[in-house]
Amino acid sequence: MVTIDDLGDLRGKRVLVRSDLNVPLDGSTITDDGRIRASLPTIRQLRDQGARVVVTAHLGRPKGAPDPKYSLAPVAERLGELLEDAVLFASDTVGESARSTVDALADGQVAVLENVRFNAGETSKDDAERQAFAEQLAALADVFVSDGFGVVHRKQASVYDVAKLLPHAMGGLVASEIEVLRRLTEEPERPYVVVLGGSKVSDKLGVIDNLLGKADRLLIGGGMVFTFLKAQGHEVGRSLLEEDQLDTCREYLQRAADTGVEIVLPTDVVVAPELSADAQPTVVPVAEMPADQLGLDIGPDSAKAFAAKVADARTVFWNGPMGVFEIDAFAAGTRAVAQALTEVDGLSVVGGGDSAAAVRQLGFDEAAFGHISTGGGASLEYLEGRALPGIDVLTD
Ligand code: 3PG
Repeated sequence: MVTIDDLGDLRGKRVLVRSDLNVPLDGSTITDDGRIRASLPTIRQLRDQGARVVVTAHLGRPKGAPDPKYSLAPVAERLGELLEDAVLFASDTVGESARSTVDALADGQVAVLENVRFNAGETSKDDAERQAFAEQLAALADVFVSDGFGVVHRKQASVYDVAKLLPHAMGGLVASEIEVLRRLTEEPERPYVVVLGGSKVSDKLGVIDNLLGKADRLLIGGGMVFTFLKAQGHEVGRSLLEEDQLDTCREYLQRAADTGVEIVLPTDVVVAPELSADAQPTVVPVAEMPADQLGLDIGPDSAKAFAAKVADARTVFWNGPMGVFEIDAFAAGTRAVAQALTEVDGLSVVGGGDSAAAVRQLGFDEAAFGHISTGGGASLEYLEGRALPGIDVLTD
């Protein structure tokens, strides 16, 4: 695998860096800048080598056309603050502004291009359309560095096609993420415990399917657990439910029983009449969920049990919060799991997205975890055993 060090002297070279700067925003305020901070080492490395650094990234899922609410302008500003240096910003991705911004770069200076998904070619399923857009991106640079781990599972122009057009290297962030995932999949130290949460069971089917043959224990919480509880015959009230996945959940429970993989589900849950900070929370056993309420967190007994199941693990992977952690009344389950991961004697990995935001928002010291991934979907697809186009293209 080619790394930045293999690219030779980069002084004066225009280096296009694909970063994942897809951060949560409240209006134009960044509520968690973890992904920007994770992107700094590679950008600094290139800057310190005197490269003219052109950062391309996406924010949200705009529909292939400019949409001010998805502008990367606040992200470019935050990047400048963190780099303690002026960062130029192009108000388009491959147009006049991008060209003149890149032309104006001095050696060791950094520019950010506007949201790459403002261009329909970026995410097009049509190879020729993606390729045409990638050619415009490639025209802005001499070299490509792939450092956006959170998007390596996407076959998109700025991730995949552009790597075919320019000399390329894997950035340090992608390399370190892949190294951790490799440790999770190749002979993990046992017990190997996986904690899954988040709202949709359908997002996790592939990973559950694959992990049933690999993990020793699977702990399930979050909104997705209600489909499992319903599959076991429980009333789940107005909780999140994916009726069309009930049979699949039953099949997984059966397969786990047959193969000796321990699936741990909550025994109690926190319910409330509605999802709101003012709603009155109640703890009930899973067998007694009221029909008119919805489950918003695992209960205290379950939190204790989940923590105990994590305690002796030598390898843990956690993806997805246990409840609606953004509201204090429904955050205890997620907090308990996060705390348990910090106490693991072995490799503890927080798998991106909401769980990474949760540990920061709940005030945990990031250094207490073995690794906090910047990619939710990407790490899940890796653990599903699927090919990642953004990685494969770098080795072709
Ligand atoms: C993420 O948030 O997981 C990455 O930035 C990828 O975003 P996407 O799911 O919109 O491709």
